Amino acid sequence: MKLSRTACAALLAGAAIVLTGAATAPTTFDDDETALIVSHGPWPVKTDADPSNRVSGKPAAIAYGKTLFESNDLSVDRQRSCATCHQADLAFADGIMRGIGLTRVDRNTPALFNMRLNRWFGRDGKSDSLWAQSIAPILDARELGMTPTTLKTRLATTQTLSDGYRQIFGAAPAAHEAETVMVNVAKSLAAFQETIVSGKSSFDMFRDGLAAEDPAGIAGYPEAARRGLKLFVGKGRCDLCHFGANFTNGEFHDIGLPHFPEPGRVDKGRYGGIQQLRKSRFNLLGPFNDDKLRATAGFTRHVRLTPKNWGEFRVPSLRNAARTAPYMHDGSKATLEDVVDHYSEIPEDRPHQDGEKLLRPLNLTDAEKADLVAFLKTL
Ligand code: HEC
Ligand code: HEC
Repeated sequence: MKLSRTACAALLAGAAIVLTGAATAPTTFDDDETALIVSHGPWPVKTDADPSNRVSGKPAAIAYGKTLFESNDLSVDRQRSCATCHQADLAFADGIMRGIGLTRVDRNTPALFNMRLNRWFGRDGKSDSLWAQSIAPILDARELGMTPTTLKTRLATTQTLSDGYRQIFGAAPAAHEAETVMVNVAKSLAAFQETIVSGKSSFDMFRDGLAAEDPAGIAGYPEAARRGLKLFVGKGRCDLCHFGANFTNGEFHDIGLPHFPEPGRVDKGRYGGIQQLRKSRFNLLGPFNDDKLRATAGFTRHVRLTPKNWGEFRVPSLRNAARTAPYMHDGSKATLEDVVDHYSEIPEDRPHQDGEKLLRPLNLTDAEKADLVAFLKTL
């Protein structure tokens, strides 16, 4: 069985070579396609400091946040840190299916890039700010396993951490409420994470060349990636959700993946995320938002919970996709090829999806799949 499939793939690959060999005409884009492609830029997107976090963009807080991010003192057993799961040399992810802290968690560790562009944080959007999201792993019994009180004691009794804290927040951690210490730690962690941004990709060079009608600018972009890009904005309809410069509309969809991290345990996705967001003391409507006018809280104020949210997950950015395997909230797709196979064969009948028929099986040929993957790798 396995052998005949391999043989078949080899045959098909051979056929594709013959075909592309014969058809040497380069892929071109009409005005509509060009407009869609240009809408995925320019990159980088300029961002401002986060008004909900008074230390956002402050160099001392960024440096302190990096120290905290890498510090084992933030975990109950002093054996792990944020960087255990978010490793700098793995695009700030961990390369495994599901993250492992004190025990294994239910979801795949996302890469941390371009966080200032997110509206929601966590794959279920349970947080509405980067600092609120940074509190969650500190308290989660499966991740770092702390409480606000143990964290305060840890900071107060660790000289380097306590000095850094006093320098930024004006008083020693011992002088603050435990909850305040925790939020300040989270805001410093956020200040650091905001500085992790991705550079210009080969797609961006091509996009800029197309926007400027500069033939030299677009010349270096591989032919397979061009064909993949044409599918991405065309027949694939990928950009309905993977939209704009960061390749995400920032919202949540159900793309037909399993709902069960373990037999008998369900991941509610966005449905659970909205429930948690609403009851959190650390959301932007709560007392810790530094933006006193609450202009930052508009989305949180208006978010609605509907049955459709069940099993939805945030649309991830596709920037750096080649470096963030495995894929999806549950890490269930090992490679970009597996992801593209999923979209090609997606099951159409899915509960809760009424009215949202954004996805249909694409039935791509092997050559088309390879082109789509070639394009994704240029991001
Ligand atoms: C056990 C591994 C693990 C540890 C330790 C860990 N994380 Fe995570 N991180 C994850 C997983 C898994 C998710 C996805 C969570 C979800 O969707 O609910 C995540 C999500 C995030 C996100 C949201 C990213 C996005 O795209 O919305 C941020 C920000 C983040 N973590 C920061 C941190 C910080 C800061 C620390 C340390 C205080 C930390 N993480 C510790 C595994 C980990
Ligand atoms: C209906 C909206 C929607 C459409 C259309 C869509 N996607 Fe997605 N995509 C998502 C969501 C939601 C996820 C995350 C699912 C999860 O985490 O379980 C995702 C995940 C991915 C990932 C994994 C990224 C990662 O870091 O885990 C890739 C790659 C991807 N999509 C590529 C594509 C391609 C290629 C197409 C077109 C063939 C496409 N998507 C069409 C919503 C969409």
